[in-house]
Amino acid sequence: MHLTLLPLLVAFFGLAFATAPSARASCTLKPLGQGKDDSPQFIAAMQACSTVVIPEGSTLNISTRLNTTGLTNRHLSLQGTMRFNPNIPYWSENGFPFPFQTQITFWILGGTNIVVDGGGTLDGAGQAWYDAFASNSSLLRPVTLTLFQATNVLVQDIFMINSPEWFNFVNEGKNVTFNNVTFNAASTSSHGASNTDGWDIYRSDTVVISNSVINNGDDCVSFKVSLHTTNVLVANLNCTGSHGISVGSLGQFAGVFDIVENVTATNIRMSNAENGARIKAFAGSGVGSGMVNNITFSGFIESAVDNPVVIDQCYETSAADCEAFPSNVFISNILFTTISGTGTSSVVADLACSPGARCSNITVDNLALTGPSGKAEFECQNVNLTGNAASLFGACTVT
Ligand SMILES: *[C@@H]1O[C@H](CO)[C@@H](O)[C@H](O)[C@H]1NC(C)=O
Ligand SMILES: *[C@@H]1O[C@H](CO)[C@@H](O)[C@H](O)[C@H]1NC(C)=O
Ligand SMILES: *[C@@H]1O[C@H](CO)[C@@H](O)[C@H](O)[C@H]1NC(C)=O
Ligand SMILES: *[C@@H]1O[C@H](CO)[C@@H](O)[C@H](O)[C@H]1NC(C)=O
Ligand SMILES: *[C@@H]1O[C@H](CO)[C@@H](O)[C@H](O)[C@H]1NC(C)=O
Ligand SMILES: *[C@@H]1O[C@H](CO)[C@@H](O)[C@H](O)[C@H]1NC(C)=O
Ligand SMILES: *[C@@H]1O[C@H](CO)[C@@H](O)[C@H](O)[C@H]1NC(C)=O
Ligand SMILES: *[C@@H]1O[C@H](CO)[C@@H](O)[C@H](O)[C@H]1NC(C)=O
Ligand SMILES: *[C@@H]1O[C@H](CO)[C@@H](O)[C@H](O)[C@H]1NC(C)=O
Ligand SMILES: *[C@@H]1O[C@H](CO)[C@@H](O)[C@H](O)[C@H]1NC(C)=O
Repeated sequence: MHLTLLPLLVAFFGLAFATAPSARASCTLKPLGQGKDDSPQFIAAMQACSTVVIPEGSTLNISTRLNTTGLTNRHLSLQGTMRFNPNIPYWSENGFPFPFQTQITFWILGGTNIVVDGGGTLDGAGQAWYDAFASNSSLLRPVTLTLFQATNVLVQDIFMINSPEWFNFVNEGKNVTFNNVTFNAASTSSHGASNTDGWDIYRSDTVVISNSVINNGDDCVSFKVSLHTTNVLVANLNCTGSHGISVGSLGQFAGVFDIVENVTATNIRMSNAENGARIKAFAGSGVGSGMVNNITFSGFIESAVDNPVVIDQCYETSAADCEAFPSNVFISNILFTTISGTGTSSVVADLACSPGARCSNITVDNLALTGPSGKAEFECQNVNLTGNAASLFGACTVT
């Protein structure tokens, strides 16, 4: 008796939810099938349903851009795959543009209280893009996921593969967490997976990136031309093939004051990378200004990294220009601690501040880095170092 009534009750409540003004409880999306674009049904479901399930084993064909912004209380249970159809002419014309560093994106997701999880995959289908970029260096390639004006967002337990460009862009986010995300960008041709940064963070407050594995071709985590990014924790990452954890480059644009403050990057494994822990800022004439304050890099284990520990405050600036126009990005209260492993050249740490005393309170503790053949050189310029590893650097060059 009770059992036969149950479907009726479910149907009744289902109808009640469907007609209520608020979001329906849960919707399951099935791919429309070969040759069809699933973007419209995906957008409609995200707007109408508090939970959107993409079942395991199914692949949504995302062929047109996704604007899912301004949502409240949403759960995307991505158990299957969303694959971004590599229609290069379409996306280069229609990807959502971000004038910031001339980026476009497949998908803007924003609003308040949003969870994305489920064990599934965002597939950027990047191979076609890596190959096309090799013959057209001005090709605009889409960022896979852009969290745009997103507050209280959690992205966890998913895979992201073959992004054409950066995997994630956090733009004007507040309280955004990425946890247990696995990234892989691997080109199967001779053309590399360039610019596939794991995360770029811009104008955001309170961001956590944790427990993730990243195999890519550019920055693992980057705080780009950042205007104002504060209170970021990056913890327990395994980055392979990247350009490192990078604060900057900052101070690039005239009239812009960049701030990156209160960042901790801890327990990071960095392998086969261009950089380990890095801060970079522009100097020279006609550039911008800013402040990098209270940054801690701790517990890095590095293997075959070209530049394991870096400050470059004359980034892309000649020595003469840096002397004439010192950086106006002031760097203060920086700690590099417990960083071990191997570099690919004998210079394992290079803390090069701009002339004019632009770096203050820079501490180096417990550095155990070696170059190939066990030789290690520690270089510095225009900085007074403190900490138990300061003596490794000797007297810094002052210009
Ligand atoms: C995806 O959708 C586009 C546009 O409708 C279509 O051209 C393409 O064949 C579809 N891809 C797949 C794998 O179904
Ligand atoms: C996204 O959609 C919202 C309305 O749903 C609109 O206000 C906004 O302008 C759109 N964003 C872009 C970049 O098109
Ligand atoms: C290269 O990419 C740009 C930007 O997407 C585009 O405008 C241009 O037509 C492309 N050039 C060629 C030769 O395809
Ligand atoms: C931050 O977001 C998380 C979801 O990731 C949420 O549980 C938490 O309550 C939010 N914190 C604040 C202060 O709103
Ligand atoms: C991480 O996410 C994967 C699915 O992507 C899941 O299988 C695994 O259990 C998660 N790990 C933890 C510690 O939650
Ligand atoms: C980190 O990644 C490298 C290469 O992918 C792998 O060899 C290593 O086992 C990973 N370490 C951890 C702790 O996941
Ligand atoms: C930096 O962290 C301190 C301590 O938590 C906090 O008082 C301060 O407001 C933070 N700075 C910014 C800019 O959020
Ligand atoms: C520095 O930033 C960390 C977070 O990375 C924060 O816990 C700490 O309180 C900040 N210190 C100061 C003096 O603001
Ligand atoms: C110098 O920076 C360290 C963090 O690296 C901080 O704990 C300390 O308070 C700072 N010292 C001064 C004088 O601000
Ligand atoms: C190093 O410290 C001395 C003494 O406080 C100071 O005069 C000098 O400007 C500092 N140099 C740099 C490069 O910060």
